[in-house]
Amino acid sequence: MDDVVLSAPLFAGIDPDAAKALLASMSRVDLGRGQVLFHEGDRGDRLYVISRGKVKLGRRAPDGRENLLSVLGPGEMFGELSIFDPGPRTATATAVGDARLLELSQDELVTWVERYPAVAKHLLAALARRLRRTNEALADLVFSDVPGRVAKALLDLSTRFGQPVEDGVRVAHDLTQEELAQLIGASRETVNKALADFTARGWLRRDGRAIVILDMARLERRAR
Ligand code: CMP
Repeated sequence: MDDVVLSAPLFAGIDPDAAKALLASMSRVDLGRGQVLFHEGDRGDRLYVISRGKVKLGRRAPDGRENLLSVLGPGEMFGELSIFDPGPRTATATAVGDARLLELSQDELVTWVERYPAVAKHLLAALARRLRRTNEALADLVFSDVPGRVAKALLDLSTRFGQPVEDGVRVAHDLTQEELAQLIGASRETVNKALADFTARGWLRRDGRAIVILDMARLERRAR
């Protein structure tokens, strides 16, 4: 468990003993499925690194519709925006299944970065990666059709949660059909239609809250 947390940008390039000391000083937060850690609009002064499980980051429109910005897994961090740019939380963080997080306060983070300035470079790289991904998702919303976005979302989830199995790559996303649709930014019906079509073509098979990608190359082509 520690190994995956130590792969987070917060610890990149740091002497292992110092990294382990920071890790040991971080408080542990355990969440049950569906438990909300914080809400969009809350005041925030803490950053989190996921040690186990998944966390979804979502926003709600005034009419009640929800959109998922991302689903993060072990070794990924969130909650940094309200620290680096003090202001309200930009999304609601909810545990997708049972999850364990490690928490770092703003003061501790500032002290850590002052002590190890190289960490700032890795944090910037992580933020830049996130912006890159967000720009791509934004362009896809405008330029890609729903099946293309479904293919892309599945490929993205597979890089995080994919495990090789006999006939392909199993992606245990743990999301309900509704949550998957919120991540793609389309209705449950259209997302289901795309998944049924991919299944009929033999590109994937569904397995509860997981999918098994059977033909990665075709799915990649569809995502382009
Ligand atoms: P913060 O605004 O403190 O709380 C919500 C967190 O969600 C935010 O920090 C980021 O860590 C994370 N977040 C916000 N937008 C995105 C995004 N587009 N992709 C991934 N994570 C995000």
